[in-house]
Amino acid sequence: MCFEVDKAQHRCDNIFFVDTVCAEAFNPDEDEDDKEPRVTHPKTDEQRQRLQEACRDILLFKNLDPEQMSQVLDAMFEKFCTVGEHIIDQDDDGDNFYVIESGTFNIFVKIEGAEKLVGSYDNKGSFGELALMYNTPRAATIIATSPGALWCLDRLTFRRIIVKNNAKKRKMYEAFIETLPLLTSLEVSERMKVVDVLSTRVYNDSQQIIAQGDLADCFYIVESGQVRITMKRSRTKKDEEEEEEVDIATCTRGQYFGELALVTNKPRAASAYAVGSVKCLVLDVKAFERLLGPCMDIMKRNIANYEEQLVALFGSSAEIEQQSA
Ligand code: CMP
Ligand code: CMP
Repeated sequence: MCFEVDKAQHRCDNIFFVDTVCAEAFNPDEDEDDKEPRVTHPKTDEQRQRLQEACRDILLFKNLDPEQMSQVLDAMFEKFCTVGEHIIDQDDDGDNFYVIESGTFNIFVKIEGAEKLVGSYDNKGSFGELALMYNTPRAATIIATSPGALWCLDRLTFRRIIVKNNAKKRKMYEAFIETLPLLTSLEVSERMKVVDVLSTRVYNDSQQIIAQGDLADCFYIVESGQVRITMKRSRTKKDEEEEEEVDIATCTRGQYFGELALVTNKPRAASAYAVGSVKCLVLDVKAFERLLGPCMDIMKRNIANYEEQLVALFGSSAEIEQQSA
């Protein structure tokens, strides 16, 4: 198998976007075959219960069928770690994928030769998927900052089940993702990585998707249906201040919303509601920062459009420019 690694670092204001771009011709069907012996690490009922709890919100496990999930749980094994322990060192080969049961961990990435703290995990989440998914060296160093417990999934089982399953997801979303104007500045391999990390959410008619003023943790692309964007406006009626919600925009298939709060580091500037039944692709904030760095200029350009829209509607625009973190 041949692959080429190109470390791209995208610096955008106060956020560092570090990604490993892999031009590998990737075909998990040809990669590892199903005849590999199954890995099983016996567990007590109590361990299995803790493991199930730790894995409940792990995105990569979300679209596994029950048989696949059961094989994954069988194969996972527990590892306890101590303060200062290096769980992963950048540039090493990938051995395991890790799900955090407890403990805190710092993430370091070499940027222009210096190790930079780019984030941390606090008693939840997972890491170590990139090297296993894309056959690349480890993209970051992970160090325990408290005693902790991790559940580990070996490389072969990860590739046999998770990577194969992700290939199905790629097939499902490939064509749609290719049509999205927002993502045209990304390489094909980068667009596929967006598919790998997105999840889908379905909303019923009138259901609220975003509430104005809330803190933001994800952004949305409409796959089907219509989304109504509204903003609160105060007005005086019979000498009393009232707040009304005014429609400001509509998003349909292929359009995105909910990026503004992530770009500006501010609370949600508007609310969003489903009109009829709506399906959205959702990207969480970490994946957004890591993968959509190159699209940031397009999204920033949109801020001017929003301001124009608000001036046309309300006579003045809210302050939606970037906030320094
Ligand atoms: P992997 O490259 O296998 O090993 C290091 C892991 O750190 C990586 O997978 C991701 O799961 C995780 N990680 C968290 N933040 C970053 C980041 N900014 N850049 C690269 N990897 C990151
Ligand atoms: P965000 O602030 O994260 O959440 C509400 C979303 O509404 C916002 O991102 C934009 O994606 C979208 N939106 C559409 N039109 C406007 C507008 N004129 N002003 C602010 N947000 C808008």
